[in-house]
Amino acid sequence: MKSPIPDYLQRVLEKARPFNTGAPASYIDVLAKADTSRSAVAVATVDGSVYSAGDDDVEFSIQSISKPFVYALAIQDQGVDRVLEKVGVEPSGDAFNRLSLEAGTNRPMNPMINAGAMATHALVVSSDATMEQRVDRIVEALSRLAGRQLYVDEEVYAAELKDANRNMGIGYMLKAAGMISCDPQEAVRGYIRQCSINVNVRDLAMMAATLGNGGVHPVSGERIMPQESARQVLSVMTTCGMYNASGEWIATVGVPAKSGVSGGIIGSLPGQLGLAVFSPNLDQRGNSVRGVAMCKQLSRDMGFHMM
Ligand code: DON
Repeated sequence: MKSPIPDYLQRVLEKARPFNTGAPASYIDVLAKADTSRSAVAVATVDGSVYSAGDDDVEFSIQSISKPFVYALAIQDQGVDRVLEKVGVEPSGDAFNRLSLEAGTNRPMNPMINAGAMATHALVVSSDATMEQRVDRIVEALSRLAGRQLYVDEEVYAAELKDANRNMGIGYMLKAAGMISCDPQEAVRGYIRQCSINVNVRDLAMMAATLGNGGVHPVSGERIMPQESARQVLSVMTTCGMYNASGEWIATVGVPAKSGVSGGIIGSLPGQLGLAVFSPNLDQRGNSVRGVAMCKQLSRDMGFHMM
């Protein structure tokens, strides 16, 4: 029997189509030129089925959606206690590109803001690894999660690096605060390469489903991360994943999530599924306008809210 799910996802997509206010990220010129008519949605269940609709094979740079997965890698490579010495777990309530160091500890508030993501990136493999070693490890791990080989989009990388003054500034502040031990420029360049890895919504849904499945890949059955790492990552996504819209998101959609400036959003419902949406126009807080509309609809229709 044909599954009704793809037709349902198509309806979700069409319903959200008129919600196309906002604008693509303007501070990275490749993203500013994105085709704003595009949108896509995908759902992957923890038993390995993937359903999708719309521009589901269109690739876009993963951007901040890389952050939870790299956080999981840092925990795997250094242990959670060492990671917690360098990056906190409290929502900052501020924009993602603010420094947001915690009073007293000097740690970036959480791994989902840029400062925290750079400090997290610098912990992957080991504190004295090279940028190439870290990026190779990240590309390999994200590819295993997606179930296919992923690549850094060199055009996106070059475009972001060209205007990376703010992130470079954050990198130097992290070094001054003792939160990274490597060269700050290496940490920022590696972090930008991590953000420039291309994915589509089907890849992201599978990656999110792996988190929702406690770290076991739904298709390969491979344990990609320990259960405790998946729990830590989902906890931080719950409180910090949608930046300064995290509170409103968890009250309305009710799913641990992460957004990125290229217009993607992932959600992971523990024990059930991973979902991913994509559309480039963003709201004031950097979240995809149609993407948020689709997630709200899915949550209402399917009862995804955790409560
Ligand atoms: O650091 C940056 O500005 C980007 N590479 C990633 C930021 C991002 O996706 C924030 N998301 N809303």
